[in-house]
Amino acid sequence: MEHIILDGKLLSRKIKNGIKESISNFAVKPGLAVIEVGSDPASEVYVRNKEEACNYVGIRWEKIKMPENTQPEQIFAEIDRLNRDPGTNGILVQFPLPISLKSLEEKVIYAIDPKKDVDGFHPYNVGQYVSCKGSTCKNLLLPCTPYGIVRLLEEYRIPIAGKYAVIVGRSNLSGKPVSLLLLNHDATVTICHSKTLNIADYTKQADILIVAVGKPNFIDESFIKTGVVVVDVGINLTDSGFVGDVNFDRVKDKVTAITPVPGGVGPMTIAILLENVLKAFFLQGNH
Ligand code: GUN
Repeated sequence: MEHIILDGKLLSRKIKNGIKESISNFAVKPGLAVIEVGSDPASEVYVRNKEEACNYVGIRWEKIKMPENTQPEQIFAEIDRLNRDPGTNGILVQFPLPISLKSLEEKVIYAIDPKKDVDGFHPYNVGQYVSCKGSTCKNLLLPCTPYGIVRLLEEYRIPIAGKYAVIVGRSNLSGKPVSLLLLNHDATVTICHSKTLNIADYTKQADILIVAVGKPNFIDESFIKTGVVVVDVGINLTDSGFVGDVNFDRVKDKVTAITPVPGGVGPMTIAILLENVLKAFFLQGNH
C-alpha cells in the first residue's frame, strides 16, 4: 500500500517560520526559561534543540543549568524568581529530574505559574483542556507532544471525528493527554497500557494508532489492520541509532500514513512549545 509520510519536520518548519514572522514585528520579544537539573544525555539534546529553535524564531532564551546534587529549595527558588520576572513568559523544567529528585516532579509542575506553563502540565491547564468545548480548546496552553500530534493529523487532512483511536501508553507526558485531545476532536478512544490483556485485540481495530511506550519496535504488522494511520511517539536509542516504538519497515506496506522517527513527532513538540511561549506572552497581557 502506498503510504503518506507525516512529515513533522516540514510542518514544524512552517510553524516556526510563521512564529518568526510574527515576532519580527514585536517591540518586546517573548522569553523562555528552561531549567535543566543534572546531565541526562537525551535531555541535553532536547534542550539544545529547543535553544536552537528559540534562536531561530527570535524568542529570548535563558537556560538555568543546575547540578545533580541541587537541593529542592534551590529549584523552587529559581521557579519563584522566574514566576515573578516579567521578561520570562514561559518556564519549562526539563524532565526527567535526576533519580534523587524524581519525586519532586509533581511539586515542580504545581510551582510554575499556570500562565507561564508552556508544557501544559499544570493541573489548571490540564483541567482547561479536559473541560473545554469546540474551537476554544485550541487557544489554551496545550501539552506540546499531544497537540503536535493533532496538528500533524490536521495538516495532512486525516479525519479524526468518528474514527477509532487507540493509544498505547498512558504516561502523563503523552498517552493520557493525547487521548483527551483526540476525544475533544470527537474520536472514539481506547487507552492500552502495560496491564492491558491482549493489546493487539485493540490495536488491530484502530483507524488511528498512537504509540508511546518507549520500547523499540514494539509494534509490528501483526498489531495493525490495513489502512491504519500510525503515529510513533517513541525515540529509543539502540545499537543501530534512534528507533521508534513502531517497526517502520514491517508496518509501512499496511498503513495509509505514518510518522517517521526521527522527523515525525519530535520536531512538532518543539514547534508547539514555541507557539505556547507566544500564547503565554499574550496571556500575560503583552501584544
Ligand atoms: N522531557 C521529554 N519531553 C518533555 C517535554 O515535553 N517537557 C519537559 N518539561 N520535559 C520533557
